[in-house]
Amino acid sequence: WTVKRDTGSGTESCGAGGRGFGRFNGSSCLFAEFEPISGVYWCEGEAGEKSEEVNITVSDKHVILQIPALPVRTGSDVTLRCKKKTGGTAAAYFYFNGRPVGPKSEHIITINVQQSDEGLYWCSTDEFGSSPQSVLRVRGSVTPISVATTERATTTTTTITTHISHPPPPSSS
Ligand SMILES: *[C@@H]1O[C@H](CO)[C@@H](O)[C@H](O)[C@H]1NC(C)=O
Ligand SMILES: *[C@@H]1O[C@H](CO)[C@@H](O)[C@H](O)[C@H]1NC(C)=O
Repeated sequence: WTVKRDTGSGTESCGAGGRGFGRFNGSSCLFAEFEPISGVYWCEGEAGEKSEEVNITVSDKHVILQIPALPVRTGSDVTLRCKKKTGGTAAAYFYFNGRPVGPKSEHIITINVQQSDEGLYWCSTDEFGSSPQSVLRVRGSVTPISVATTERATTTTTTITTHISHPPPPSSS
């Protein structure tokens, strides 16, 4: 398997020459932050099996919304924070599809997720402005294939660690 991405100019494979990006070390795709990074990332097996897609967005804004990159299951708790570029969280108003989530600014909000919570979120602060928008995706059932990302905003490399697990064989019952 390998890591693939589309940053707006077609599909690229990690470590491939020509239409490639970054360097694949056997378990991770490593690339420097001066490369174009914003786009959709996923991993793909030899037989074409695909993981969930993850959007990675690079932003100059002073705050970003911390939100799960992967789909979450209905009934699970999701925590949102408005993270400052300089570290720590800012007191913020959180928005969902254009509407405020709560009546006052908070450092952290937790949502027990239902299907209707799927959509576009962002946070807005008095001091630091607003964050870029992020999509929260909600699934009702188990998704066997996953991508885990580690993002570091201020370092020179971004590491994508990917795990593919195959679904269990169909039950005979
Ligand atoms: C690949 O890079 C990752 C992240 O730096 C590191 O954790 C891992 O040990 C490396 N694997 C190999 C085989 O070099
Ligand atoms: C990625 O971002 C684009 C543009 O904001 C959006 O249309 C798309 O639904 C997102 N995809 C995922 C998997 O979140």
